Amino acid sequence: MKTSGTTYDLRLFPKNDRVRFNDSVINGKGSMPAWGNKLTVEEVNNIYEYVIH
Ligand code: HEM
Repeated sequence: MKTSGTTYDLRLFPKNDRVRFNDSVINGKGSMPAWGNKLTVEEVNNIYEYVIH
């Protein structure tokens, strides 16, 4: 797996799983903190669009 450190490589994230993406980003997952109090749903959706393209 290509990675620049200890963080998850988003290039490997499944491109058809917006629900999981939003849930993981808003609520946190494993060692990643939750971003829901910092990002709006619209911002998370925009990041998702960027990541899958
Ligand atoms: C807004 C910025 C970020 C976005 C959009 C983002 C997005 C994601 C996504 C989609 C996953 C995959 C979750 C899953 O498997 O369902 C993930 C995992 C992870 N992220 Fe982030 N991330 C962000 C910032 C960060 C930062 C700053 C860190 C480090 C402090 C971090 C650390 C991690 C780690 C360690 C995982 C693996 C979690 C696990 O499965 O144990 N992320 N991230």
